[in-house]
Amino acid sequence: MTAEAIPTRRASTVSIHPGWVRVCHWVNALAILMMIGSGWQVYNASPLFNFTFPRAITLGEWLGGALLWHFAAMWLLVVNGLVYVTLGFVTGRFRRKLLPIYPSEVLGDVKAALTFKLSHEDLSHYNAVQKLLYTGVLLCGVFIVLSGLSIWKPVQFHVLTMLFGGYDFARYVHFTFMAAIVAFLVVHIALALLVPKSLRAMITGR
Ligand code: HEM
Repeated sequence: MTAEAIPTRRASTVSIHPGWVRVCHWVNALAILMMIGSGWQVYNASPLFNFTFPRAITLGEWLGGALLWHFAAMWLLVVNGLVYVTLGFVTGRFRRKLLPIYPSEVLGDVKAALTFKLSHEDLSHYNAVQKLLYTGVLLCGVFIVLSGLSIWKPVQFHVLTMLFGGYDFARYVHFTFMAAIVAFLVVHIALALLVPKSLRAMITGR
């Protein structure tokens, strides 16, 4: 390190996301995209609502193929999710970066965002809206896996299936969490593209 670099570390060298966060994040992104694409194809075989998803944006070609994709990606999602959540608690990252979430701060940050006054200077700190969205999508991840298990093995996990209101209702629950994750992704990806240095930090860590 040069003498002039000692007093103030340049922003580009500040470590923001450790390696395990970046690896888990991108593995999760891949797994989620495969789960959504194949899930849409499975849905098309027996739609819950008055619409189906265009085949071009689904994965698996037909019901059997989509189920194979869905169950393969499920293992990736669950194993990677368990690693991320365990390390998130053990290293204290969740406590430091995602909590606490105060409603007054969320309202303040929403107001600031709507008036283009929300600062994105300090990438090492999540604002209250980010904390709420990230915590929310992690909880959606837990419930989409649990509701998925309840419709995959309704006999073996009958208590879980019952807690989700029975097989038929659990399908609606599973679909609703998918829709919430897709809504999160639309906002999340748009913001990542609007603030490219945040995307760079999630790739390089700095
Ligand atoms: C596929 C495209 C995706 C892109 C381009 C993307 C981009 C990013 C970026 C740039 C950050 C850092 C935000 C910041 O520092 O301000 C981030 C963090 C995060 N993303 Fe994504 N993401 C994607 C997919 C996903 C998916 C599928 C999920 C979950 C369903 C997700 C959940 C999260 C969470 C929870 C964090 C916070 C991680 C932590 O700090 O521990 N992302 N993402």
